Parts: sequence; structure tokens; C-alpha cells
Amino acid sequence: MAVLNIIKYPAEVLKKKTKPVSDFGPGLQKLIDDMIETMYAAPGVGLAANQVGVSKQVTVIDVSSRDETSSLLVLVNPEIIHKEGENSSEEGCLSIPEYTTVVKRAEIVKVKGLDRNGAPIEIEAEGLLARALQHEIDHLNGFLLIDRIGRIKREFFKKRYAREHAISNG
Ligand code: NI
Repeated sequence: MAVLNIIKYPAEVLKKKTKPVSDFGPGLQKLIDDMIETMYAAPGVGLAANQVGVSKQVTVIDVSSRDETSSLLVLVNPEIIHKEGENSSEEGCLSIPEYTTVVKRAEIVKVKGLDRNGAPIEIEAEGLLARALQHEIDHLNGFLLIDRIGRIKREFFKKRYAREHAISNG
């Protein structure tokens, strides 16, 4: 296993819809293992394959805190099939370091997809897991959390990013 480099905003691969997986062979298994290691090393509660530069519909999620048992979830070709309610909470993203913002999401989601061996799974989730699922599935569809906030907040983010980027480039 290896810790992979996490691709940062505004890279193009983060804005493109990822491709469905049909081959569950060793290549996919290695990608998944590397993504799990990368997520825990970051540390983060979720990671999408395009965040490590691979444009495929694969995500890993673990929202458990340090003193709980792991609740690792590997999802291939996930799709939200039901949304309910509304919840606004602070959110961050490994591809947008040092930035958090309040994002409005559904309170409850139902997701269907495949596990790492290609077997169908269906999950109903609420709270932090529901939020993580929506965030990661957004990634796989080419959306970042800054696409889920108001226009004025997004303009602020872009200005701040441009300013910090200009400074770091001297
Ligand atoms: Ni993210």
C-alpha cells in the first residue's frame, strides 16, 4: 500500500465526472487499498478516486472517531437514490486545504452501489455519514463543496484563493 498525493483545487480532474468501474481486478484492489491508506494518513473522513488523480467511480469513507471501531466503507459506482430533510453543517475537503464552510445537504440519504468485489450494496444513512456520502458522490460527479454554497460566498472563496496563490508564487 502507498500514500498517494492528494490533488488540490483547481485541478481539472476534480471538475470532471468520473467513469463507472467494470473491472474489479488487482488494479482496482490496489487503488482502493492506496486510497484507504491515503485517507487515514491525511487524515480525512472520505476520499474520492479523482482526488488521487484517477477518474473512476470509487470512494472510501470512514466517519468513525479515533476511539470508536472503524466503520470503513468502500463504494464503487455509488448513486444517491433517495434524499430526505435538510441539514446545514461545517464542511471541509482534503482538496481545498485550510478552508471550511457551512454546506446545506440532505439529512438522510439512501445510496446504492457496489462493494470492492462488485457485489451490490444499499445504505441508508443520516448525520455525518449522510453528509460524507453526499460530499464524496459530489466529487465523483465533478462537484466540490464550493459548488454547493451561495454565489457570494463562492466569489469570496475565489478571491481569497487567488490572493493566497499570488502570494505563494511571490
Ligand atoms: Ni472533498
